[in-house]
Amino acid sequence: MAGAGRDRVPLIVGNWKMFKTSAEGARFISDLADQIGRLDDREVMVAPPFTGLYEAVRAAEGTSVSVAAQDVFWEWEGAYTGEVSSGMLADLGVRGSIIGHSERRSYFGETDEWVAKKVWAGLERGLLPIMCVGETEDEREAGLTEEVLARQVSAGLSSVRAADGGRLAIAYEPVWAIGTGKTATPETAGKAIAHVRREVGETLGDDIAEAVRILYGGSVGPFNIDELMAQPGIDGVLVGGASLQLGSFVRIVQFERP
Ligand code: PGA
Repeated sequence: MAGAGRDRVPLIVGNWKMFKTSAEGARFISDLADQIGRLDDREVMVAPPFTGLYEAVRAAEGTSVSVAAQDVFWEWEGAYTGEVSSGMLADLGVRGSIIGHSERRSYFGETDEWVAKKVWAGLERGLLPIMCVGETEDEREAGLTEEVLARQVSAGLSSVRAADGGRLAIAYEPVWAIGTGKTATPETAGKAIAHVRREVGETLGDDIAEAVRILYGGSVGPFNIDELMAQPGIDGVLVGGASLQLGSFVRIVQFERP
């Protein structure tokens, strides 16, 4: 089953992290939309910081670009200083959210349990959760990659009903490849992604495993996008650094598959 699904619509997500003011983000989206035109065989999302979401959604209206957040909290409202709920994001016109990025796991102490609650909260309000998983360099060297991925996937999806499983995406981002220029080879990425897909199957069933889009992330750029997208089972990419420059992101969006 794994990797047969060329009917999964490729998804390209730009993670801007803590870059771009709202005016810069809106300008970028307008320019991006002009350059890529109408797309019907792939989806494009950009994830600005919270402060840029409102203007980003306005700039993206009527274009082939949609807007995601970089994080979301699981409660609907309440005394949670600094947090933003999935309902608030949906109300703005935001369509998805990155959840459990490795920077949030390592700098802000996010746990698998929190990730599970955020995935659930995103689904409940109609956002596309883009759940990030991935091993550190030490874990890979210790031969723990498969174990770590299995734990992150099964825990992160533990609150998802099988019926909702088709409305989420997973990003496999080996931590050692993020922002380092060290990309996983397409074969290494493909192998890890096949493992992630098997684990989705164990947790939510084979139909969901076949439907869920699994992206690769970690030093994706114009130079490696085509070979990554040629790998069976890689349904898209989550792009950090190279999503900040218009030219390189346009090239990534315009990937070609053999
Ligand atoms: P990078 O970041 O493309 O700069 O490696 C990817 C990510 O953190 O999502």
